[in-house]
Amino acid sequence: MHPADPAVLEFDPDQRHMRTPRLLLRPLRADDAAGLLGIYGQPEVTRHYELDTLGDLQQAQRVLDFFLEHHDRFALIDPASQRMIGTCGLFFWDRTTNMASFGYDLCHEFWGRGLMREACCAVLAYGFASKRLNRVNALTALDNRRSMALLQALGFEHEAVLRQFAFWKGQYHDMRMFGLLREQLAGGAIEPSLRAFDGA
Ligand SMILES: CC(C)(COP(=O)(O)OP(=O)(O)OC[C@H]1O[C@@H](n2cnc3c(N)ncnc32)[C@H](O)[C@@H]1OP(=O)(O)O)[C@@H](O)C(=O)NCCC(=O)NCCS
Repeated sequence: MHPADPAVLEFDPDQRHMRTPRLLLRPLRADDAAGLLGIYGQPEVTRHYELDTLGDLQQAQRVLDFFLEHHDRFALIDPASQRMIGTCGLFFWDRTTNMASFGYDLCHEFWGRGLMREACCAVLAYGFASKRLNRVNALTALDNRRSMALLQALGFEHEAVLRQFAFWKGQYHDMRMFGLLREQLAGGAIEPSLRAFDGA
């Protein structure tokens, strides 16, 4: 197998840790405010977000508190440096429809290496396999090229443009809705990662 094949995934069900070829994913925890500041303190990362670029730890703590309360979100750790270089997770979980929303962000200096694709395969496999998801939603700004390319590589389908659906930095923004269904997983990018959850 290629050393960076995202299909190579180990899952520890007790700690909910996931290991991919180049990343460790672990649930966000109470001491992660500084890690989030390192990510959302970068204007490239917050450009398409309903979030101003973070300037201090207090602001990062508020984002962390929100994530800990409302998201099932993982920190992406670079094993060599132990640095948190991104986050990825599921939220707005609807237990009736088995549907959740999906979000991710990576420090700018790590873009263009396929790292988020690796992380997303792990988190989506976790959601579909161990949380019985049927559908995952993802919204991106119209001009978020990298995010759209990532979603399409993962097998998401572009379904609609939602007009003036978001508001940030003083303006309304049209958003693209992407969806991934359980029935689409066979033969796609996520399917090999599902094996790590057999019996979990
Ligand atoms: C969205 C975001 C995570 C995408 O990051 P990314 O690094 O482009 O994502 P991927 O992991 O899919 O990497 C794909 C890139 O890595 C390259 N790559 C290198 N090695 C690779 C590998 N082994 N496997 C796959 N791709 C690889 C691809 O060619 C591609 O580069 P290119 O677009 O320059 O051709 C990043 O831009 C980001 O954090 N943006 C800010 C936050 C944000 O907008 N989040 C989404 C809100 S909806």
